[in-house]
Amino acid sequence: MTKKIVLAYSGGLDTSVAVRWLIEEYKAEVIAVAVDVGQNPNWHHSDWEALRERSLKAGAAQAIVVDAKEEFARDFIMPALAANALYEGQYPLVSALSRPLIAKYLVEEAGKTGADAIAHGSTAKGNDQVRFELSVRALNPRLEVLAPARTWGMTRAESIEYANRFDIPIFQTATSDNATPYSIDENLWGRAIECGILEDPWQEPPEDIFSLTGLSSDLKESSVITVGFEQGIPVSLQERPVLSKKQVNPLTSNDEPIGLVDLITKLTTVIGMFGWGRIDMVENRRVGIKSREVYECPAALALIMAHKDLESLVLERDLLHFKESLEQRWAELVYDGMWYSPLKEALDQFFISTQRWVTGRVKLRLSEGRCVVIGRDSPSGMYDMHLATYGKDDTFRHQDAEGFVRLWGLGLTTWATAHPPDTNPSGGRL
Ligand code: ARG
Repeated sequence: MTKKIVLAYSGGLDTSVAVRWLIEEYKAEVIAVAVDVGQNPNWHHSDWEALRERSLKAGAAQAIVVDAKEEFARDFIMPALAANALYEGQYPLVSALSRPLIAKYLVEEAGKTGADAIAHGSTAKGNDQVRFELSVRALNPRLEVLAPARTWGMTRAESIEYANRFDIPIFQTATSDNATPYSIDENLWGRAIECGILEDPWQEPPEDIFSLTGLSSDLKESSVITVGFEQGIPVSLQERPVLSKKQVNPLTSNDEPIGLVDLITKLTTVIGMFGWGRIDMVENRRVGIKSREVYECPAALALIMAHKDLESLVLERDLLHFKESLEQRWAELVYDGMWYSPLKEALDQFFISTQRWVTGRVKLRLSEGRCVVIGRDSPSGMYDMHLATYGKDDTFRHQDAEGFVRLWGLGLTTWATAHPPDTNPSGGRL
C-alpha cells in the first residue's frame, strides 16, 4: 500500500521541496496542510489559493488550507495571556504557540485520510521540530514523524537547484535568496526574524527586516488606547489621539465588543505605527544553542503589559506572587514543546481560576518608540482609596502598625541579640 504522509506546508522553499522529496524518497502520497494562524500569505508572493495550488504543482495529491485564526486566538493566545507568558522574560512565544495548533490539524488530517506519518519542514537546530514532534506524539503516538529538511542534507542553493530540476514553483533564485537569507515566522501574536546578518549578536538589526513596527510618516504625536478586559480576556479597544483634543478615528467604543482576531490585528497596526514592540535578544534554545533572535510583537507585548497591570489591581498579593512563579514555568513548558503535557494543562486550570475577577480597563499611552501604562480601573479591584490615602479620608488603623512591625521582626531581633552584627558592615567581603 502506498504510504500516506500529511505535510505541514508553509508555501516556502523548504516545504515545497519537501513535497517532491517525500514522493521520491518514500513513493508516498503527500497531503499538504497549510494552517492560517494570521501570517501574511504574501510572504511567498501569493494568497492562500495560490499557495494551495503551488503545493499541488509540487506534486501533492491533496492540498488543504485551514483558517485557524479564531481558534489560535481563543485557545492558544488567550491561555498565554492569562499566563503573561514571556520566555526568558522577553519573548511572547509567537512560534511556540502556533506549532501545537498546526500539529493538531496534521493529526486530524492523518486520522481522516488514514495516513501513517506526518512531516514538517523544521531543521535540526531549532525549537520548532521539538514542538511539532512532541505535539504529534501527544495527540497520536502511533503516527510516524518525518523531518525531510533534517534528513536531506541539502544546502539552500541545492534546495533551489532541486526545485528547479522538478519544476517546483519557488520565488528564490540562487543569488537573490542568498542576499537576504532570513528565516521568518509570523502569526497573529507577532513575527520572528532570524539568520542572515542577525547571526552576529553585535550587529544592529537593519531597519528593513521589520514589517509590523516602524515609525509611520503620518504619526500622531501621541495617542491613548484603552483596552477593556473581561475575566482576563481583552474585549474592547478605544483610541483617543491626545494632542488633537478631539476624538479622531476611535477604533471602537467600549460598548461595542470586538472579536479577538480583530482586536489583536488592530493593536498590531496602531502600536506598530509608533515603532514600539521590538525585541532583540540572545535566546537559549531547547536544543542547547544560544541564538540571536529579533521579534516584533507590538500587540502581544502591549496586551501582556496591560493584563499584568490589571492583575496588580485585582489579585490578592499571595496569589499574584505565586502566579508569577508559575508563569515562568508555563512559558518554559510551551517554549520546550510541552503544550499538550499534563503539567501545562494543569497550570492552565490554575490560571483560568485566577482570571475570574480580572475585569476592568487599562490605559496605554503611545508616543514615538514608547508604549506605557498610564491608568487602570476595575469594578472588582482590591485598591481601597481609604486604606491607601495619605489624606483626610484615611481609615487605616495606624495604631496596629507598631505591634505588627515588632512581631514581624521579632525573630530577626532575637537573632541579632544572640549574634551581634559584624562590626565590618561589608561582612568581610570587600
Ligand atoms: N526562536 C523562536 C522560537 O523558537 C522563533 C522560531 C521561529 N521559527 C522560524 N522558523 N523562523 O520560538
